[in-house]
Amino acid sequence: MGWFKKKTVWHKLYDSVTAAENRVPLNHAETVEVEGKKICIAHSSEGFFAVNNKCPHNGFSLGQGFCTEDNAIVCPLHRYRFDLRTGRAKSGLGDYVETYPLETRPEGIFIGLKQSSWF
Ligand code: FES
Repeated sequence: MGWFKKKTVWHKLYDSVTAAENRVPLNHAETVEVEGKKICIAHSSEGFFAVNNKCPHNGFSLGQGFCTEDNAIVCPLHRYRFDLRTGRAKSGLGDYVETYPLETRPEGIFIGLKQSSWF
């Protein structure tokens, strides 16, 4: 018998903030794959954010979207907007997209993903 635990595992995404800015210019986004999971990295005026790449509306890639001034990512397909901090749909509908923590360290920018394991 053991315990089922969730722990955060950190993965390096970019070597530095400059490297991230070169990949993802302001108000743009890109899709990265970490541990088989597709993630949208968005660069808004408030910084870098990570959300699940799959638009909750109809599955389009949010990494192909763009950022707004009120810190949302816009899905290019039907223009639904999701708050980059909370993941909530700006429309006020129940939709939301999962968000992930990013951390800037001297060695680069890391993303924290929850991993389940038995102890
Ligand atoms: S698939 Fe994203 S808004 Fe429709």
